[in-house]
Order: sequence, then C-alpha cells, then structure tokens
Amino acid sequence: IELPFPSTEILTLTRHILSEQIRLGAAATGDLTLLINAIEFTSKFIASNVRKARLINLSVPHLSPRPLCCIDNWLLISVGLAGDTNVQGEEQKKLDVLSNDIMVNSLRASRKTAVLISEELDHAVVIEEEYKGKYCVVFDPLDGSSNIDAGVNVGTIFGIYKVRQGSEGTIDDVLRPGSEMVAAGYTMYGSSANLVLSTGNGVNGYTLDPSLGEFVLTHPDIKIPPRGKIYSFNEGNSLYFHPPTINYLNSIKYPPAGKSPYSARYVGSMVADVHRTLLYGGIFGYPDDKKSKNGKLRLLYEAFPMAFLTEQAGGIATTGTRRILDIVPTTIHERSSVYLGSRDDVLDVITFYQAEA
Ligand code: AHG
Ligand code: MN
Ligand code: MN
Ligand code: MN
Repeated sequence: IELPFPSTEILTLTRHILSEQIRLGAAATGDLTLLINAIEFTSKFIASNVRKARLINLSVPHLSPRPLCCIDNWLLISVGLAGDTNVQGEEQKKLDVLSNDIMVNSLRASRKTAVLISEELDHAVVIEEEYKGKYCVVFDPLDGSSNIDAGVNVGTIFGIYKVRQGSEGTIDDVLRPGSEMVAAGYTMYGSSANLVLSTGNGVNGYTLDPSLGEFVLTHPDIKIPPRGKIYSFNEGNSLYFHPPTINYLNSIKYPPAGKSPYSARYVGSMVADVHRTLLYGGIFGYPDDKKSKNGKLRLLYEAFPMAFLTEQAGGIATTGTRRILDIVPTTIHERSSVYLGSRDDVLDVITFYQAEA
C-alpha cells in the first residue's frame, strides 16, 4: 500500500500574489504585494482575537490614551460596548475597535499607505511623511460585530486604491468610483479563516492553515453560478421596502407553477452572506427603503469591495438602478442600496426596478 504524502507544493497567498506580480512584469514594483502581506497579517491577528474573545477577558488597569503604535498592552478583550467598564471597573475594548487599531497600526507600519478610511473612525487617517506609501486602504475592520456574542461568523472587508498621479494622498484619492480600486477582498472568521481576494484578475480564496500560520490557496478562480436558489435579505424590513423589492421577493417566494421557491439564508454578517453567495450563487440584498433612504451598507468599505469581488467572479452588483462600482462617493461614510450575486438573479431585480420606473 502506498502511503499518501502531504503535498510539498503549497500555494500560499504570498507565493500566489508574488507570481501574479511577476506575471505583470515591470509594471509591478512589489509594493502591492507587501501591502497585501500586511493585510494578511492583520487577518491572522484579528482571527486570533475573535477566537479568544469569548474565552478571555485579560485586563490591564488603565491604558488610554493609547499611542497608535503601541499594541502590546491592550489585552483587554471584550465583546461589550466600546468604552464600557466591566464589573471590576476596568476599561473594555470592543472587538471591532481593537480590530480597527490592529489594522491602522499594521497598515501604517507597512509604509505602503497614504490614506486609511475605517468604519470605526469618523475621519480619514492621513499617514505622516515618514511612513507614507502610495496606496489608500478603505476597510471595515470587523463586519457583523452584532453577531460576535452568538459565535456567528464575522469578517474584515477591505478595498485598495492607488493614490492619483501627483497626489500626496488626500481624501480625494478615495472619493473615487469602486471600479478604480486596484484590489479588494475580505477575510471571514468562521470555522476557519477564509481570505478572498481580487487584484482585478479574477477572485481567489485562501484558507488559513493554523499549523503553518499561512493562508493557502484553496478556492482558485471563484466563479458565481449564473443563477442560484438562495435569497439573502433582512425581510424584517419588509414594512419599509419599496415596490420593486417587494415585487421581486414575491416573485421568488411565489413562483409560477412548476418552479420551486427560493430558500432564505440570512446571517446578518455581510461577509458571511456574500461568501455564501459567491460560492453557492443566489442573491444578497440590503436595499434602500422608506426608513433608510440610502440603505444601510457603507459604500467605500462594504458595497464597493463586495461589488468588485462579485463582478470579478462573474456576477452583478447594482443599487437596483445603477452599477455600484460606477458611483462616485462624496463622503467617506456614505451608504448605498445593494443587490449582488448571480447574474440572472440580479438581472431579475433590475427588471423589477425598470418596470417601476
Ligand atoms: P458592521 O457590523 O460592520 O457595522 O456591519 C453590519 C452590517 C452587515 O454586516 C450586515 O449585512 C448588516 O449590517 C446587517 O444589518 P441588519 O442587522 O439590519 O440586518
Ligand atoms: Mn460591516
Ligand atoms: Mn464593522
Ligand atoms: Mn459597526
């Protein structure tokens, strides 16, 4: 009997993007590779904290204000509200604030960034001269954070722009359509950590091998099935939905005779809902409605990166009336209506909007 040997040809994320860089030839300087490496590190760091969060609540007496570059002493992990105090009267740090600090520190230290936009920070972080690079990163450090206490999947979403020619790195370098991103991705922290990335040449998925501490290519060239059987909406908002949303949902729940209705799946973490949509197909939606006139999801660090991945995987991402990646943001925390997923499913939604127009 021949014993199976483990493969000695493992395609790690670093190796994979390096080969991509070589394929691009002289155009690539290696800076983007180093930046993606820094993001990969933050994913490992956040994954490890997400896993520990329910287990430990290490504490140190009083740490604020914490210098940006110091992350050694913060080990006070809490799933409570930021700024809360625990029963011992200690300051607690919500996991999404902690994840934000991890990302800001690491991205700044990479020396490859000029501007950072985070869901957790009201203002843009403009990197000082000494550390300045030529990329801008927009990110949601911990997406789905309302799910943490229940042990449900959460994630990190990111998008990367290159500063415009001649720019020193200002907010205008990120107030650009999502189609101008050079890369986008997310890491989902679930039963394993999955990093899904596109640098504009298809979508690849990597899984963290905890024994190696490396993200390994496990899902090469992800393509969304052209039609799915799953819909993913917070239907609790039905009271507020506009007619095209209601009519579309009715069409998949009450199909003509002979066709089966769609299955409902809604995690409430965009990362998890989009991850499933990319792999299984179907549609994810968080539309604008009578209550939220621009929907809920944020354009720069939720809608754009997910729309970028969806299109790169062969799907469609729309507000209902226009392509998401064409929107020019005017403010960094702007929101947008979102429908994304399998081509034919999203085309159906668009048809319902056209019928209403
Ligand atoms: P975040 O935790 O980063 O603030 O994002 C939450 C978002 C997104 O993950 C999810 O799709 C959506 O909120 C869920 O909203 P509802 O609870 O309204 O369904
Ligand atoms: Mn989010
Ligand atoms: Mn978040
Ligand atoms: Mn939030």
